[in-house]
Amino acid sequence: MKTILVTGGAGYIGSHTCLALLGAGYRVVVAESFQNSKPEALRRVQELSGKEIGFAACDLRNKAEVEDVFDRFSIDGVVHFAGLKAVGESVVKPLWYYENNLSSTFHLLNCMEKRGIHLFVFSSSATVYGDPDTVPIREDFPLKPINPYGRSKLMQEEILSDFQKSRPEFRVALLRYFNPAGADRSGRMGENPNGIPNNLMPYIAQVAVGKRAKLSVFGKDYPTPDGTGIRDYIHVTDLAEGHVAALRCLEERSGMVICNLGTGRGYSVLEMVRAFEKASGRSIPYEICARRPGDIAVCYADPSRAETLSGWKARLGVDDMCRDTWNWQSQNPDGYPDEPTWKGSEKL
Ligand code: NAD
Ligand code: WQD
Repeated sequence: MKTILVTGGAGYIGSHTCLALLGAGYRVVVAESFQNSKPEALRRVQELSGKEIGFAACDLRNKAEVEDVFDRFSIDGVVHFAGLKAVGESVVKPLWYYENNLSSTFHLLNCMEKRGIHLFVFSSSATVYGDPDTVPIREDFPLKPINPYGRSKLMQEEILSDFQKSRPEFRVALLRYFNPAGADRSGRMGENPNGIPNNLMPYIAQVAVGKRAKLSVFGKDYPTPDGTGIRDYIHVTDLAEGHVAALRCLEERSGMVICNLGTGRGYSVLEMVRAFEKASGRSIPYEICARRPGDIAVCYADPSRAETLSGWKARLGVDDMCRDTWNWQSQNPDGYPDEPTWKGSEKL
């Protein structure tokens, strides 16, 4: 049984992926600083899986702390989620973004190289494509991110690619996520944004539950059928399974794989509002506002390469995403509780 180090494992996508990895028979060790998450997420991973996970409190910017994780646990592969992800904040604090996102990757790779660990799955983003000339977006499209967050993702992709070329035994999957949404079917785990949500789905969910008065729809003059932006929303459980499929794929083949993880279908902001109203039975008041700077009109994936290489494809649709987000949000209107109720296991 392989042991996988999941960095940022208490975060939104990381916590769902821990659950999927445990379900697929992997052992899981999480390295986390909780700078954008809560220990309760990991307690719930254990509750839902009925399995224990290893835990190391760790700021991945700190080389000694990362070394310590690899010394304490016997790791076979790494799924690297930890990072900062808010586009607007990355414009205001670019150094913080570059330092946090790049140094973590350096430290992990150095530790892996030293110990002969060869499996690495990286959280990249559709943001590396910037504003594409056409859709659906294929992996060989030009890479031209338009903000520091996106550039930090592209730089990490390039570092990983160069490292792989220099070490043929190193196997890496670059997974470019489209728009993650939804929550675990149980309603016990979901997205738990700090403060005002930046993204559409958590914002809609907070309007539905009465925490926010109305949604601001950023622009109704895009060249789309209803004038609002179109995105490829992918259920977080499908995304989590995409990581299991990527690991399995790397166990079978050497080299680097680059895959879009999306559904291949785009939905507009207003279509998402209507789908959420249907799923929740609540009305979502909204007002049309100016475009948000840096937003593009249409973005959706060609996800066929992931299916060809790993057999993975998204199974769930927007109705599932809205149902599960509502289930999570209505059962946990304030997200995860604050108390550090979970300390984690120092050994596995
Ligand atoms: P998240 O903020 O919920 O999770 C990231 C986790 O990493 C958090 O738990 C945070 O505490 C931890 N972390 C951050 N910096 C750390 C550090 N220096 N040391 C230790 N832990 C640290 O974010 P998410 O939505 O789960 O995203 C996970 C990954 O996927 C990120 O790399 C993000 O850039 C990428 N991604 C996210 C989206 C999205 O829309 N959610 C889309 C594409 C790619
Ligand atoms: C979706 C649509 C908005 C909020 C971002 C990052 C990207 C990736 C995923 C990490 C757009 C509209 C939104 C609101 C709105 N993250 N919207 N009102 O911008 O596609 O992608 O998250 O890698 O890098 O840029 O996602 O959910 O913010 O927006 O009208 O309050 O909803 O204009 O059309 P986006 P989003």
